[in-house]
Parts: sequence; C-alpha cells; structure tokens
Amino acid sequence: MEHLDLTVKIGKITLKNPVIVSSGTFGFGEELKDFIDLNHLGAVIPKGISLEPMKGNPPPRIFETAGGILNSIGLQNPGYKEFVKNRLPYYKNLKTHVIINFFGNTQEEYVELASHLDGLPGISGLEMNISCPNIKRCGIVFGTDPRMAYRLVRAVRKATTSTLIIKLSPNVTDIALMAKSVEEGGADAVSLVNTFRAMAVNVHTKKPELGNITGGLSGPAIKPIAVRMVWEVSRAIDLPVIGMGGIMNAEDAIEFILVGASAIQIGTANLINPRTGIEVVQGIKKYLAQNKINRIQKLVGAFE
Ligand SMILES: Cc1cc2nc3c(=O)[nH]c(=O)nc-3n(C[C@H](O)[C@H](O)[C@H](O)COP(=O)(O)O)c2cc1C
Repeated sequence: MEHLDLTVKIGKITLKNPVIVSSGTFGFGEELKDFIDLNHLGAVIPKGISLEPMKGNPPPRIFETAGGILNSIGLQNPGYKEFVKNRLPYYKNLKTHVIINFFGNTQEEYVELASHLDGLPGISGLEMNISCPNIKRCGIVFGTDPRMAYRLVRAVRKATTSTLIIKLSPNVTDIALMAKSVEEGGADAVSLVNTFRAMAVNVHTKKPELGNITGGLSGPAIKPIAVRMVWEVSRAIDLPVIGMGGIMNAEDAIEFILVGASAIQIGTANLINPRTGIEVVQGIKKYLAQNKINRIQKLVGAFE
C-alpha cells in the first residue's frame, strides 16, 4: 500500500502509531535504549512516580504464574525531584512522546504532583494511576469508588493543562461506571487495565510466594478479561480508550483495537522481549496492508 496512516490522537497528543510501552515494565526508558529505538514507538510511559521517593514492598516481588506474572513492586520510585533532575533530561531529545505516569496517597498529593509536572519540557502528557489507597479515607482505593474518582479527576484537571489520561483499575464490578465518572471529571482519555489483585501460595513452605502476600496479575492470563473491559468502556464513553492487558504480539493488539481501543500498551511482554513494541508496530502495518486498510483509525471499534 502506498501510504499507511498509523497516527492516533489522544487528547492534545498525536501519536505516530498506537503502540505505547506501559508504566513499570520499561524502567524509565533510557535503560532500554540499546535494545530498542524508542523513537519507533507511539509513546513511552516510564515507571510511575510520586511526590516522595518510595522503597516499595519486601521481596520476593515477582512470581511467575500460568500465563502471567504476579508482581508486588509496591510502586517503588525515586520521587519527583530525583526524577526531574536525573531522568527528565533524557526525554528532551527523544522523537517520541513521553507520558508521565504518576500517583499520590491523597487527593492533595495528586494535585500537587500534577501541577509540578504541568508543562515540563520533554513531557507530552500525564497518565494518572488511580489504583492507590486514599490514606486519609482508611485505604479506600480511589479507583474503585466512582465518586472519589470523579472528585480526584476534577481536582487534578484544574491543576494541569496537559493531556490527562486516567488509568483505571480492573478490580471493580462495573468498569464502565468508573470510566463515565472520570469522563465527567474532565479526563482526556482512559487507559485500562491495570493489574488484577491476586495471590499465590507455596504448598511446600505454606507461605505466600510474594513478600507482600498479595500482588497484581498481568500477562496473557488476563487478556480476555481486559478485552471485555475495553469493549464495555469504549461503548460507554466518548473519550479515546487505551487498551492493555496481556498483549504479546500484533494480533493481540489488533483485538483490543477492534473492540474500541484507539491505542494500546505493552507491559509484561517487555520483560520477556523489550523489542515487542517495535514488532507490534510492524505486525499492525502488515495486517493493514494485507487487509487493504490505509488508516488505523478505520479499525478502531470495527468488530462485528
Ligand atoms: C512489574 C510491573 C510493574 C508495574 N508498575 C506499574 C506502575 O508503576 N504504574 C502503573 O500504572 N502500572 C504499573 N504496572 C501495570 C502495567 O503497566 C499494566 O497496566 C499491566 O501489567 C497490564 O498489562 P500487561 O498484561 O501487558 O502487563 C506494572 C506492571 C508490572 C508487571
């Protein structure tokens, strides 16, 4: 085909293609620059950051399960100041978008961090992880209470003019309701899914496999549930939806696009092969050419 248009618009950002590497599975990006040319990706999302540094959870933090992994990294990160000093400068010369994943323990922390990040050079947008307990409200997770999620997004929206993507937790009964709440709060897009709360026990030691007892399940094991959730959300809201959960190759990515995802993220697959993102871009191009489709946008939600 003469010209394939892979561009996708998410809020104010135009991605050159719909393939993004997901937060927590690609370090801060720079560590992987010898394995993959980041400029071929639609966007890079570095490890989630908070206002203050976080040590994370006790080891073991990763356990392999059938078709996936359990992780309990516990959002370990060097904190905002260290991030701006040592990580941000690398992003300025990249020719791809960098979207910063961030989180807080209270609404005030979320708002403060969003306003610090607003307009920093090298940053194209923000992805707000709402799968965190609100310490002030006894650990209720923002991402599982539609009213709290609405209020949080509304407050953060006022603090930033950047493209604001809300990353939804799948640990809810009605994911479409959560998506509608954050849409009403002023989000520019939603991304889903984050990991599913899960655990595993070693029958010989009778102890949990993770130091934190519970963790989050990701990888191919969660893909069919993630596809169903992306489908439900994309029918419920008018915002662009970024789909993820177990994407290992181009076919998996196209499945998410067909049920309504405008873009997709690759997570666990990066831990096996950091070049997965590039391979998915190539695979999508091949699929479009074979099916004589000249624009990726024609595929979004095109499932019959
Ligand atoms: C080791 C690891 C660390 C992660 N860290 C974060 C994080 O810091 N912030 C976040 O929003 N999601 C984080 N995630 C979730 C992923 O970005 C992604 O939403 C999830 O793993 C589902 O996609 P996948 O099945 O392709 O991995 C992490 C996942 C893994 C496996």
